[in-house]
Amino acid sequence: MTETYFIPKPYTTSVESGCFTWSSPSNIALVKYWGKKKNQIPENPSISFTLNECKTITTLRFSKKQHSEGFSFEVFLDGKQQDDFKPKVETFFKRVEVYLPFLKDYHFTIETSNTFPHSSGIASSASGMSALALCLMSVESALSDTLEEAFFIQKASFLARLGSGSACRSLEGDLVVWGKHEAIQGSSNLYGVKYPLEVNTIFKDFQDTILLVDKGEKQVSSTVGHGLMHGHPFAQERFKQAHKNLTALSEVLQKGDLDSFVSMVESEALTLHAMMMTSMPYFILMKPNTLEIINKIWNFRKETGSKVCFTLDAGANVHVLYPFNEKEVVLKFIQNELVAYCQNGQYICDQIGFGANKIE
Ligand code: PMV
Repeated sequence: MTETYFIPKPYTTSVESGCFTWSSPSNIALVKYWGKKKNQIPENPSISFTLNECKTITTLRFSKKQHSEGFSFEVFLDGKQQDDFKPKVETFFKRVEVYLPFLKDYHFTIETSNTFPHSSGIASSASGMSALALCLMSVESALSDTLEEAFFIQKASFLARLGSGSACRSLEGDLVVWGKHEAIQGSSNLYGVKYPLEVNTIFKDFQDTILLVDKGEKQVSSTVGHGLMHGHPFAQERFKQAHKNLTALSEVLQKGDLDSFVSMVESEALTLHAMMMTSMPYFILMKPNTLEIINKIWNFRKETGSKVCFTLDAGANVHVLYPFNEKEVVLKFIQNELVAYCQNGQYICDQIGFGANKIE
């Protein structure tokens, strides 16, 4: 399959106006995507847990325009007009126009809100872009006679990827793979797929408590970050390693081997940061409190035999991952020992979720 598969045939129905609302979750990668080729094609496959509580809810209103020149849209965040979001949406529209040829026919109002604090350092691009892609697919569906559900989701993921790579893992499923991998049937560089193999029950209700260490603006944008992998001295080895790690993690997910899960997930997080520390220019995205938390987690594990572990995004916040059967003990540990390292003591309790939902 190539990109052209997603270019639609002429639409069969005409629609004057309408409104759709979707809620879409954030996700946290276990094997990280870091580095991309042209057209948002990942350099390596990745896999993520879908989150349940950190979501973006987007309503898309659309009405037919007189002339179909240029894109016409407004963006609102929490009810307030947000013109600084417009360039990102404009870039997204340009990238997906060939796949959604109706984009210039309508005026769009995009109303969006997040269930997590805006300036929490939690990336809203995955949940935001996937929610927008789903709303746009609802428009396409209204313009088409038939659109199969599986295709709807697949194309939404394809479109979301063009907005923000990791957004293509925020559509459907508790564990999602994006990027071609030899052992994952159906995996593709063009969209995310539900992890197709049996997953051990221990992972079905996994917990993720996000410790907000630094709620500031991202020090390095994803675009710049991915760009740093071009010509990076360790890039090719890293891409190979991600393939190997996904093979190994896949086995771990099926067997429920928590010790291996812990070491693979933590190693992936530190590798992501090592890539940033060893690029040119170089960055340290962890803060002193990130390291304090990591050391506390390691000590706690050593002392108690707990299977709690951490992962990181491209920032200072820490995702604390643990099985449901440790929830009480780990939350106590977080409250007693880790909250002190969070900005204003803030953290978010989340757990593995199942994907996006249509609201209207
Ligand atoms: O989707 P982007 O371009 O914002 O990249 C996200 C990259 C990481 O979050 C650091 C890793 C990942 O796989 O989600």
